[in-house]
Amino acid sequence: MRDKVLLKILNIEKNFEEVRVLHDFSMEANREEIVCIIGPSGCGKSTMLNIISGLTLPSCGEVINNSQNTSYVFQEDRLLPWKDVYENIRIVNDKSSHKTCMELIEKVGLKGFEGFFSCELSGGMRQRCSIARAFNYEADLLLMDEPFKSLDFNLRIGMIHYLLTLWESKKKTIIFVTHEIDEALLLGDRILFLTNRPTKVLTEFRIETPKMKRSLTDPSLVKVRNQILDLLQNENQPVDS
Ligand SMILES: Nc1ncnc2c1ncn2[C@@H]1O[C@H](COP(=O)(O)OP(=O)(O)OP(=O)(O)O)[C@@H](O)[C@H]1O
Ligand SMILES: [Mg+2]
Repeated sequence: MRDKVLLKILNIEKNFEEVRVLHDFSMEANREEIVCIIGPSGCGKSTMLNIISGLTLPSCGEVINNSQNTSYVFQEDRLLPWKDVYENIRIVNDKSSHKTCMELIEKVGLKGFEGFFSCELSGGMRQRCSIARAFNYEADLLLMDEPFKSLDFNLRIGMIHYLLTLWESKKKTIIFVTHEIDEALLLGDRILFLTNRPTKVLTEFRIETPKMKRSLTDPSLVKVRNQILDLLQNENQPVDS
């Protein structure tokens, strides 16, 4: 039988020269689970995703990643500037059909811009193109680093619903980093709240309401939001100040 845990991070340390970023950092994610991560700016969230993806090595500790493939929406869009929107999306999966690519382009609201280069797009459009690219890569683990940060309210809500629809059909494991509590409340099976540097998981919230049935006005979600706001007030010293 397959292990239900897809990803396990055990007692990771990560230092950049004298800067201690992650310290005794442990977490895990089950198959089909969405784990949201909230933590202060500069505490090491992107570093942690880079370690999971294998782009960065931990100073010590262990990462057990049982996924077949990992797809990554980076904090910055990292589009290929010499390729247009369509080609940026198709390049990660040359088996993907024209129809699939065009559907993705439509889903992220870029219909009509498929022939545009990244220098001709707004920041939010570039970000949506990078989301479509990540969705086009067949992977059972999806890492998303503040993917909706440059989007207006309506686009953000649209992308949250799209992500949930995608999750319902493909049941990927998703690690979703965000500074927006409401995104975490709508998407997460669990929300991990990180400390300031040197960073570890301070506490975890489990949200039992099925993801497709959530409303931000549900008393259970309001209660978790208030608990997170309390924590943010206690942890509100920016680490780089
Ligand atoms: N390649 C690197 N070399 C040196 N220091 C780095 C490197 N990458 C990250 N850091 C440092 O590690 C710390 C954590 O950075 P990281 O980008 O992981 O934070 P973050 O939690 O993602 O922040 P934000 O919410 O602002 O995106 C910062 O102090 C940063 O300066
Ligand atoms: Mg970051």
